[in-house]
Amino acid sequence: MSIRYPEKVVIVTGGTRGIGEGCVRAFVGAGSRVVFCARDPAGGPELEDELNAAGPGEARFLRCDVARTDDVEALVDRTVERHGRIDCLVNNAGWHPPHRPIDDFTYGEFRELFELNVMGMFAACRRALPQLRRSRGSIVNVSSLVAAMGQLHATTYVATKGAVTAFTKALAIDEAAHGVRVNSISPGNIATPLWQEATSAADDPARCWADGEAAQLVGRMGTAEEAGKLCLFLAAEATFTTGVDHILSGGAELGYGRKTRV
Ligand SMILES: NC(=O)c1ccc[n+]([C@@H]2O[C@H](COP(=O)([O-])OP(=O)(O)OC[C@H]3O[C@@H](n4cnc5c(N)ncnc54)[C@H](O)[C@@H]3O)[C@@H](O)[C@H]2O)c1
Repeated sequence: MSIRYPEKVVIVTGGTRGIGEGCVRAFVGAGSRVVFCARDPAGGPELEDELNAAGPGEARFLRCDVARTDDVEALVDRTVERHGRIDCLVNNAGWHPPHRPIDDFTYGEFRELFELNVMGMFAACRRALPQLRRSRGSIVNVSSLVAAMGQLHATTYVATKGAVTAFTKALAIDEAAHGVRVNSISPGNIATPLWQEATSAADDPARCWADGEAAQLVGRMGTAEEAGKLCLFLAAEATFTTGVDHILSGGAELGYGRKTRV
């Protein structure tokens, strides 16, 4: 990968695996100085060491639970203490609970998911924006294709991702005056540990994975690397793009199909 975003300071939340790891790898490969976090430190220091040995950019892992506002603020503050600026914030950390009808979600579970998938993003944007305004940088929020399409037995998750997409557009309007671009990406099925965990819990894991692959026109799931490349493009090159939700789905949303049983 060429040096497309050299010396830029980038925060990636939830960067130890999956889509976040794909982002960390893409930005370090583009020459950026990346600070990435996770609530569970597993794999963080190892990824940091691997990427610092490979370059051309650098990586630094910090533990942070994005559902905790004080943790998020400390993540942003420590990044500024270390690097003196922020050029891009990728709000990726999030979770999809197991599929259930609304009757089986508690109020508390929905509130907790909102704290993670939405409030974490809000807190990171709020704390990082003074720096992003100075650098005329950008934000990339990781939403989901299901925010626009809905999904069976996933009311709480879909609601949080709808909030991410809508928040992105509203913030893009406000921050245009400061030269900060705000975009979201909406992945369809991306092969990540989250997907693997969901598959393992299914009655028929092989069938579940095969259904996941077959949901795309391209006949496979996307990769974390492909997601990372899209986020890097939005930060480094898409300078006339703000307030846009970028679908990364292999064509999963295209075409009419049967929705009811006969
Ligand atoms: N995989 C998909 O098919 C898919 C599709 C659409 C959207 N997404 C979204 O992409 C994002 C990443 O998903 P993924 O599939 O890579 O998940 P993953 O579970 O494989 O990785 C999630 C990362 O976030 C971290 N994380 C989880 N909770 C955290 C917390 N409270 N604080 C800090 N870090 C935390 C994890 O440690 C991990 O590094 C999520 O927001 C998810 O909703 C994923």
